[in-house]
Amino acid sequence: MTFQKKVFILTEGSRKIGFGHLARCSALAEAFRKKGCLVKLVINGDSAARKFFSDQSSLWFDWIKQKKKLLVEISGGEVVVVDSYLARVSSYREIAAACSLLICLDDNKRLEYPADLVVNAAPNADEFKYSNCASRRMLLGTKYALLRREFWQAPVAKARAKLTKFFLSFGGEDLRNMTPKVLKYLTKNYPQAQKLVICGRGFRHLAAINKTADARTKLFYGPTAREMKHLMEISDVAICAGGQTLFELSRVGLPAAIIGVAENQRRHISSWKKAGFIEVVGWWDTRRLAAGLEHSLSRLEPAKVRQSRAELGQGLVDGQGALRVAEAALERLRNAPVPSLHLRRAAARDCRAIFRLSNDPEVRRNSFQTQAIDWTGHRQWFDGKLHDPTTFFLVAEVEGKFAGQVRFAITNETALVAISLKATYRRRHLGRTLLSQAISLCRRAHPRLKRILAQVKIKNQPSRRLFESVGFSRSRNMTVRGQRAIEYVFKLKDKG
Ligand SMILES: CC(C)(COP(=O)(O)OP(=O)(O)OC[C@H]1O[C@@H](n2cnc3c(N)ncnc32)[C@H](O)[C@@H]1OP(=O)(O)O)[C@@H](O)C(=O)NCCC(=O)NCCS
Repeated sequence: MTFQKKVFILTEGSRKIGFGHLARCSALAEAFRKKGCLVKLVINGDSAARKFFSDQSSLWFDWIKQKKKLLVEISGGEVVVVDSYLARVSSYREIAAACSLLICLDDNKRLEYPADLVVNAAPNADEFKYSNCASRRMLLGTKYALLRREFWQAPVAKARAKLTKFFLSFGGEDLRNMTPKVLKYLTKNYPQAQKLVICGRGFRHLAAINKTADARTKLFYGPTAREMKHLMEISDVAICAGGQTLFELSRVGLPAAIIGVAENQRRHISSWKKAGFIEVVGWWDTRRLAAGLEHSLSRLEPAKVRQSRAELGQGLVDGQGALRVAEAALERLRNAPVPSLHLRRAAARDCRAIFRLSNDPEVRRNSFQTQAIDWTGHRQWFDGKLHDPTTFFLVAEVEGKFAGQVRFAITNETALVAISLKATYRRRHLGRTLLSQAISLCRRAHPRLKRILAQVKIKNQPSRRLFESVGFSRSRNMTVRGQRAIEYVFKLKDKG
């Protein structure tokens, strides 16, 4: 039986930042789900983001500020994806320490990410000069574009002879109020053409848009991804902002004239321009909007040009990026080298590391006493255990760093075992090695032992499987401190 891997995707969305992160994160979530993983999004967002992304199963809180809450939520997750303009490198480090694999989504080489995988899907991402780091894999270029599921497949685009349908989209909010301005230009200069106008859920200028609309204007309020794709497919040219929509336009093969509406789009737009897919009209505050539109649209007028842009776009983005990223992550987990463990007797210097591990959310949750442990109490307890002849206390290290602990409480011929690994070392079958080696050492130190017992909460599947895989057998169901548990026994054979 294989267990579903847990993936947490941490991101943000707001009027100010926009909703591009939410769109690509939900795309990646879909890809991980398709690969059989359990996925949860954790979103730092405002009310506009909630309108844009109404997925019921997501968690909404400021995960950068509420660090403790975040670490509790993501505990037990193998993969964590972070897509943020706000998180600092210290947050990334803490998250990396709490999971097996950290993926960072990047646009602007914002940080030196302490990640296992970094994804930047910009067309020229390989020119960003990321620093070399042997343990980090870079997934660069449009091959890794994270598109919503509806865009994974698309028919081959065929440019029509004339410009008869325009597609207008300025994001979920249109903060710069571009839609009425562009629409005004089109109604004046292309009265015969249809204008398919996307009105996001956060639009506040609908009155101005309605006023500008002509008989050949159609407004689409908060369309689904499927509807968006359909509208792109039936259009001849898009006039858009320079965010994530560019990847979708490229996939559909719809040539685009782009107006930059946010500082964080600058690099993105210039890389698409360099790739030759888009025309750049200018920036939202240009005084020469009409001239810019005229210039860009005249360049896109010939069907031949639009056809070659369509082919270029579809060649750049094949729609499989999200699945590729998910596969790269899972492959990395599968092939992660198994670290070699070194076991030694616990010593006074381990007090703090064991305190931290004991307060790890998953360790607490799986203990029979679930409240957080306080430092003073822990010190007394730890000191007592070190000097207690009935306790055999081992610490595991990987490359000299604390990785986990195993403790045996010995009464006559029976030992009761407790085991825990730091979050980064879990789910890699290290527990088996740790437990087997610890049993051998305990046996050597206490040759009269006849059996080892383990009491595991019924819901603690990883631990149950660990004990079963090492040869423990189920002895009885029991209740410990009011909680249902299973007692396992491992019979030690006489060495003869
Ligand atoms: C319990 C613990 C030591 C196990 O060590 P580990 O190295 O992580 O264990 P493994 O990687 O071998 O995983 C154990 C099994 O659980 C399975 N598993 C992994 N994630 C799981 C999940 N979310 N749900 C159910 N089973 C899961 C694994 O597939 C594996 O099963 P398999 O052997 O059939 O492949 C470790 O998870 C830990 O420290 N947990 C927190 C503390 C704790 O619970 N201690 C035990 C108290 S009794």
